[in-house]
Amino acid sequence: MTDTISFPLLFSPMKIGQLELKNRLVMSPVGTRLAHVGKVTDAFKEFYAARARGGVGLIVLEPCFVEPTDEPKFLSLYDDNFIPGLKELVETIHSEGAKIGVQLFHAGWQPGAKQARFLPPIPPAEISLERIKELVGKFAQAASRTKVAGFDLIEIHAAHGYLLSQFLSPLGNQRDDEYGLDITGRTRFVVEVIQSVKERIGDELPLSCRINGYEHLPGGLDLEGAKEIAPVLVDAGLDLLSVSAGALGSYPLTIPPSDTKEGCYVHLAEGIKQVVSVPVVVVGRINTPDLAEETLNLGKADLIAMARGLVADPEFTVKTTNGEVQRIRKCIACNACLDTDYDGHILCTVNPVAGRETELETTPAEQSKKVMVIGGGLSGLQAAMVASIRGHKVVLYEETANIGGQWLLASSPLHKHEFEGMVSWLSYELKTLGVEIILGQSVTSATVKTVNPDAVIVATGALPAVPSVAGFEREQVITAWEVLRGNTTIGERVMVIGGGATGLETAEFLAEQGKKVSVVEMLKAFGTDMGGTVYFHLRTRLRKLAIELFKNTEVKEINESGVVVMRNGVEENWAAFDTYVLALGVSSRNDLAKELEGKVGELYVIGDANAPGNGANAMRQGYEIGMKI
Ligand SMILES: Cc1cc2nc3c(=O)[nH]c(=O)nc-3n(C[C@H](O)[C@H](O)[C@H](O)COP(=O)(O)O)c2cc1C
Repeated sequence: MTDTISFPLLFSPMKIGQLELKNRLVMSPVGTRLAHVGKVTDAFKEFYAARARGGVGLIVLEPCFVEPTDEPKFLSLYDDNFIPGLKELVETIHSEGAKIGVQLFHAGWQPGAKQARFLPPIPPAEISLERIKELVGKFAQAASRTKVAGFDLIEIHAAHGYLLSQFLSPLGNQRDDEYGLDITGRTRFVVEVIQSVKERIGDELPLSCRINGYEHLPGGLDLEGAKEIAPVLVDAGLDLLSVSAGALGSYPLTIPPSDTKEGCYVHLAEGIKQVVSVPVVVVGRINTPDLAEETLNLGKADLIAMARGLVADPEFTVKTTNGEVQRIRKCIACNACLDTDYDGHILCTVNPVAGRETELETTPAEQSKKVMVIGGGLSGLQAAMVASIRGHKVVLYEETANIGGQWLLASSPLHKHEFEGMVSWLSYELKTLGVEIILGQSVTSATVKTVNPDAVIVATGALPAVPSVAGFEREQVITAWEVLRGNTTIGERVMVIGGGATGLETAEFLAEQGKKVSVVEMLKAFGTDMGGTVYFHLRTRLRKLAIELFKNTEVKEINESGVVVMRNGVEENWAAFDTYVLALGVSSRNDLAKELEGKVGELYVIGDANAPGNGANAMRQGYEIGMKI
């Protein structure tokens, strides 16, 4: 059954210049780090082919450097030898039924190192007039190569604090010559790039430009400023305008984490749309067909771009048209795709296949086996799903009354409620596949013997680690898990021990309830197990909540009169807190696995039962074992 009726605008075709799009869904540029020395690889090609196959109308490919770069995992177009690989990519995408554009890019003063992106802006070095001219020429040459490679559209990247957007920004552009000072000056470089690219490509290829609607920086570009810039750029020769946000110093807002509301930049696109005559593309946490349709219906944008939503589920479009919206594997905005590398390239917590499409193609098992999965956390659920898809007869056992395991706790802090969606999604898929789930049953080696499976997957998870420190046995000392489960009494003054993700999120959870919270961390930094963008946001929120953070601080003892800590190498005695919350990591629960060794045909231990890790790890191991059996 096809269901384009529920989303008439989203699935209405559109013409941009001579380019005909079959729907209004655009894959927004995503730096996958899958290229090799600037060239397309098989993994790169298959990543995008999967998204094209999934039904998106247009892919705007990740950036192509117009000059040599020290970022070899990104594409380049500064030389003709990059053309053949791109040509092959374009042909593949076309054969899968989508159109494909490419982003032409220069990083400018953005440092390559990830952390440095989140530093406050430093004044950029001024480039000479000759250099500007040279760069305009390089964009034009890259555009000619784009045309030869057969792309359907060119996008000039003038957003996110990179070279061209630095010129557009009142903060980034401090020049007092004809390339600065006022709107005409600040837009001049981008206008020249647009005009020179247009000269090369004529009207054959539509030309788009990505700009910021807001920089989220004091003194930076805001919506009013962007509304002045947009018409100038359009008049220079654009056919399309793509609106985004964030720059150096506010980069985490370019890729807004889960504490940002869905559709967070719709108002920016709406504002720009009021002042330009060309179609406008909107982006920013639009992860449901309903929100996409509503945005179009209210006339706030003409095309809907999705980045992480399509990393998470390449089949977003086809599931929507097939009336299977519930089956969409929704992005949870955890930003692992940006903040973490798997083997040097993109990864996705909810979709372990992202970036590994060539490697993890699901093929039917040679022989259908009886598989017993013990534990209903993420790794167990994911393993059960893949094994079942491959034709095995799977039964999953969970000792509690609910599936989800630790992930349910991870979903309970504020701003992380969407994380629970992963469990609902896995649950729905398992139900559809007919996987039997037995809740409330603890499995022993005797149970396994009775069931007599061909393969056992032990996914029994972990328990909070409680190191042997004097006083940790006192009744005022509880674990972060108990706090997040919400079934315990907590005093007014709370010390959270451990400043990783769990400790910080638990501290926020408590402070939001009005508790006075201090966090101690023995390392010299907080959130070392967190991604940069997510930590950036959390840190801002913790500051607002006046949570006290003590690094280089280790709890030595909790006693009647208070706490003994070692802070910066010096022993200190602190007054007692009402409650102490341990957030010191977890220890694997693998007793059953040990007992089963040598007693079953195939035995696999995955997820935290194997070694404590994050959700992405658990999903990945579940997927890999499901593929292996
Ligand atoms: C891993 C990753 C890499 C990205 N790289 C680029 C890029 O190279 N160029 C660009 O214009 N946007 C880039 N973006 C931003 C996205 O295109 C998009 O604007 C942003 O993720 C918000 O959309 P979403 O909420 O649908 O993910 C990237 C996003 C992610 C997640």
